Amino acid sequence: MKSSVLVLGSGRGLGRELCRFFLEEGHSVIGVTRTRESLTALLDDFSPRNQWFRGEAIDLSDRESSLKFLQGLRKELIPDLVVYAAGHLSGRKPLWDLSWEEIDREISSNLAGPLFWSVEMTRAFLMARRGGHLFFSSGVVRLPRPSWGSYGVGKAAIEALSRQISLDLPPPLYSLSMNPGRMATAMRKAAFPDEDQATLPSPVSIAKKVGAFSLTLIEGAGRTYNGKALTMEDIP
Ligand SMILES: NC(=O)c1ccc[n+]([C@@H]2O[C@H](COP(=O)([O-])OP(=O)(O)OC[C@H]3O[C@@H](n4cnc5c(N)ncnc54)[C@H](OP(=O)(O)O)[C@@H]3O)[C@@H](O)[C@H]2O)c1
Repeated sequence: MKSSVLVLGSGRGLGRELCRFFLEEGHSVIGVTRTRESLTALLDDFSPRNQWFRGEAIDLSDRESSLKFLQGLRKELIPDLVVYAAGHLSGRKPLWDLSWEEIDREISSNLAGPLFWSVEMTRAFLMARRGGHLFFSSGVVRLPRPSWGSYGVGKAAIEALSRQISLDLPPPLYSLSMNPGRMATAMRKAAFPDEDQATLPSPVSIAKKVGAFSLTLIEGAGRTYNGKALTMEDIP
């Protein structure tokens, strides 16, 4: 059966490759990019399969635009799964070496935006009596290291957010977080500019594994993983 997936942060990286995976598997996808420019590039990329793809340019931290879109979505189609792939890293620095603009942007993209969308989407899931949240955390949560500043704070809070939501969700609703591990994306480049990205897993390969697992969540396994904070090794 065709499922519907909402992917937040689909302009590039893992979010974009997850959209591609779900479309190739025959599912319908709503992709949210931060800017109109990245939405145009995405629509060009997916044009052969456009019938099942709907794109929106919304900054997740813009509550007014987000709410307008979410209210429309509630009337039309409530997705089966929301994947929170949006994220921002200004660079690896201690908190006090980041500007307030950098801290605000990291906290709004990595925590405040996802929190807002997850609360609103939960209200929609409760109406539909189905639905799940898949958040992405980071290795820095389990193994805290220096210089991960407000990104590290935001990712730790995302795991806490997912767990907190999971404790209150009635079945069959669910929420889980997953650390996708290192991959060759622009975010990783911002963290490790001198690294050879050819030595890293590609976002395409990570998206195939995470995408296939996501489909099992939709097909009924979601509640089994409710409240879990997974790594890639935990994925069957
Ligand atoms: N790459 C890694 O090694 C790694 C490791 C562990 C965890 N992760 C996590 O995995 C997820 C995907 O990472 P990635 O490497 O694919 O990152 P990426 O290449 O930087 O892509 C992130 C995407 O999120 C979008 N985004 C950021 N803030 C947004 C906002 N406020 N509203 C809407 N979209 C927004 C970005 O749009 P713009 O380009 O327009 O800003 C971009 O398209 C993130 O949650 C990240 O923290 C990544």
